[in-house]
Amino acid sequence: MPAFDDSDFGVPVEQIKSKDLSRVKSNGEAVGSYGASYGSSTGGESVHNTIEVPATRSSIADASPYMHQLSLSPSMKERRGSRNSFGASLPIPRSKRQSRLSSVAYADGRPQRPGMPPIQPTREILASQVQDLSGEKVRAAKDMAFVFDIDGVLVHGDRLIPEGQRALEILNGDNELGIKIPHIFLTNGSGKPEQARIDQLSKILHQPISMEQFIQSHTPMRALAEYYNTVLVVGGEGYRCREVAEQYGFKDIVVPNDIVAWDPTIAPYRVFTEEDRASSRPRDFSKINIEAIMVFSDSRDYATDMQIIMDLLRSENGRLHTMAKDPVSQRIPIYFSQGDMLCPTEHPFPRMSQGTFRIGLEAMYKALTGEDLERVVYGKPEAATYKYADEVMMNWMDIIHNDEKLPKNIYMVGDNPASDIVGGNNYGWNTCLVRTGVFQGGDNDEENPANFGVFANVLDAVKTAVKKELGQDFNFEWKNERVNPLLQGNGASTVAVE
Ligand code: G3P
Ligand code: MG
Repeated sequence: MPAFDDSDFGVPVEQIKSKDLSRVKSNGEAVGSYGASYGSSTGGESVHNTIEVPATRSSIADASPYMHQLSLSPSMKERRGSRNSFGASLPIPRSKRQSRLSSVAYADGRPQRPGMPPIQPTREILASQVQDLSGEKVRAAKDMAFVFDIDGVLVHGDRLIPEGQRALEILNGDNELGIKIPHIFLTNGSGKPEQARIDQLSKILHQPISMEQFIQSHTPMRALAEYYNTVLVVGGEGYRCREVAEQYGFKDIVVPNDIVAWDPTIAPYRVFTEEDRASSRPRDFSKINIEAIMVFSDSRDYATDMQIIMDLLRSENGRLHTMAKDPVSQRIPIYFSQGDMLCPTEHPFPRMSQGTFRIGLEAMYKALTGEDLERVVYGKPEAATYKYADEVMMNWMDIIHNDEKLPKNIYMVGDNPASDIVGGNNYGWNTCLVRTGVFQGGDNDEENPANFGVFANVLDAVKTAVKKELGQDFNFEWKNERVNPLLQGNGASTVAVE
């Protein structure tokens, strides 16, 4: 496991207003007085809820290898650091300080204690007796953890992968120790509030899932709410991503429909219905500076969204109906929640995802301005997302085992070598590649091989990893009668453990 502290990942940031971001170079070096002002806060200053994590991907557009002769000649203008100061580091929230509402979704809807699965109190007592007698195994169980990808590992859309349910049952306590083996969920999925996604998932999996163990691609982007006031949020169904942004604390959220309702000529091919108009929030966007663009989820209308994004990227500081003389110096930053090119769906061939949408935008931007687009991409395999997962994992350990530490042996279980596996490998985790999703290859992926192995499904991966940490004879079933003296009928006052 890599050991990190704040100095490895930058320092807490002051609550910088976006107009000040130009004072931070795009390579992450602070310039001017900010160099001195970074660091510990002093009394009376705002609370710092973010950590800046060095980017592992270049902040510059990927489009050129895909573009052939598409673009104009590249500009010879000297590049300057744009206002997108996060090309070199991505802010993530400090998990402990988040004001997320702690809640758990249960398949049967029963109210429960946050973070605790619905087990009988008697069983809890028996389990703790068993655990008292199995110190070594208990220590090992608390020193290992799983990070689960969702699509292609636990579910296919709304369809359960049955081994996923069984794997979670084991980790939620159906094992010889009756112990909860720590696990969190890390998906590049997006487009709805975390709680809505958790409710849906826990119904499919018939397992409790807590908000405190759940990360979508845009979850760490809540940190950006501290940096910008007015933002354009793009993607997702209807107004769900506006809802997501509101929950993250963004103060002034604009969506493409608000802009089309204000000026329908901006999107000439859009059929804008009365219903769209009634549900949108038009304002005079020629008088408002949009400070950043957040692509939270897949665009449902490429033509409209790309046109509006391109207009904003080429505008003077995010003001529509203007065109910047210098496309770089007045460009507002753009963030994408993840970079997957393709996403498996019900269709026989995977469908395009945010990655391809982004490449399209990068190519358009280059073609229209001659400049490479500087942008930030969150999600797996970006290190910031894995660092955030560490934060969430430690918090989860505190909730389930009252011990806020990072387990030593972390296993990432994923189906996509290009996101789950390469990200996990780079972060120093054990990686397990399953054959129930994107990966269709042979013994292992050639470019990004899983270091712990390739498995038929998630249950195989979980059992193999648990046996490695807790012993080959570890039993994946809790049996009351094995430990309950009354059920054994011998009247013994001590707990019998096989
Ligand atoms: O590609 C987008 C999303 O569906 C991937 O989800 O859970 O496999 O990271 P996941
Ligand atoms: Mg997946």
